[in-house]
Amino acid sequence: MLPRVTSIAGLPTPALVVDTTALAHNLDTMSAALPGARLRPHVKAHKCTSLAKEQARRGHLHFTAATPREIVGMAHAGLGDDLLLANECVEPARLRALADCPARVTVAVDSDETVDAAAANGIREVLVDVNVYLPRCGCRPEDAPRLADRARAAGLDVRGVMGYEGHAVLIADRAEREAKTVHAMERLARVAEAVGGGLVSAGGTGTYDLNTAATEIQAGSYALMDGDYCKLDIPFRRALAIVATVIHTNDRWTVADCGLKAMGMDHGNPSVDDADVLFVSDEHLTFTPHTSVHVGDRVLVWPAHIDPTIAYHERLHLADSLDLDATIIETWSVDLRGWDAVGANRGS
Ligand SMILES: Cc1ncc(COP(=O)(O)O)c(C=O)c1O
Repeated sequence: MLPRVTSIAGLPTPALVVDTTALAHNLDTMSAALPGARLRPHVKAHKCTSLAKEQARRGHLHFTAATPREIVGMAHAGLGDDLLLANECVEPARLRALADCPARVTVAVDSDETVDAAAANGIREVLVDVNVYLPRCGCRPEDAPRLADRARAAGLDVRGVMGYEGHAVLIADRAEREAKTVHAMERLARVAEAVGGGLVSAGGTGTYDLNTAATEIQAGSYALMDGDYCKLDIPFRRALAIVATVIHTNDRWTVADCGLKAMGMDHGNPSVDDADVLFVSDEHLTFTPHTSVHVGDRVLVWPAHIDPTIAYHERLHLADSLDLDATIIETWSVDLRGWDAVGANRGS
């Protein structure tokens, strides 16, 4: 049992802290722009059913997930109205776990193998995932109608298409971001009618207001934001930081106890206000503060990419501001982390 902590400064570090004012601003701003089913929030960004409940409270009852674990966890949290696994899966036990969920589950398919695995393991509904130029999953557009026919012949209901323009979402220049999004969505639209079903699922935080071709947007990062997305001209505020403790200082640099095992580094170094970050190693952040800092002081570290950062942590601590003396209002479990979907949450 952890001792009850009441302020950010009292947390054992490194720890994730959320600014509830910024979070509420982000959730409200997005639900005003994309109300109800126009947004299918992606839970991979936060992996937290308590945060998903805040999104549901604002009218978004359909969710996107990246892992079977996320789907099963959402279903058992009572958030299973309409869950999309926007990712490919061929593992029978995991597909069975999805099929057995107390939820409406739709699975992305992009090949004969993924269609056949879905049909053989009890999945009832699929979306055909079309590659829209991001070098990742998704079938070639010309294969989409054939895959839809194969799915229907196997007894699956085809709800439509999806295509993620991930190569566009972080482009800082708005005109270029829009041009890449339009180009990607033209590719998706060309096959949507032939596939049938009506759903066109796409988009992310960076394209939430540019992607007008999709019937629903799969944004996730908007809720908490990160260093990378904050460089864009979008109206969401950074709401997540890591609180760390200064464990060493000398006349040339300072070290805090927040290394790359506490944050995702795939988008580069984090930032620290009033400081230059030099580098990050396993358990250390080495930086040069512009003001005087002492061993034992707390600092806030802003990660460049929140998704992998949150996946390293067990809890999100909520405070009404990110001042170091701010009071912790509530602590949420990052309960969708990990990959174990089979048997997860049963009975809870
Ligand atoms: C399939 C899919 N849809 C949507 C998103 C958008 O997420 P974000 O809001 O973080 O840009 C992602 C992010 O990687 C994704 O993989």
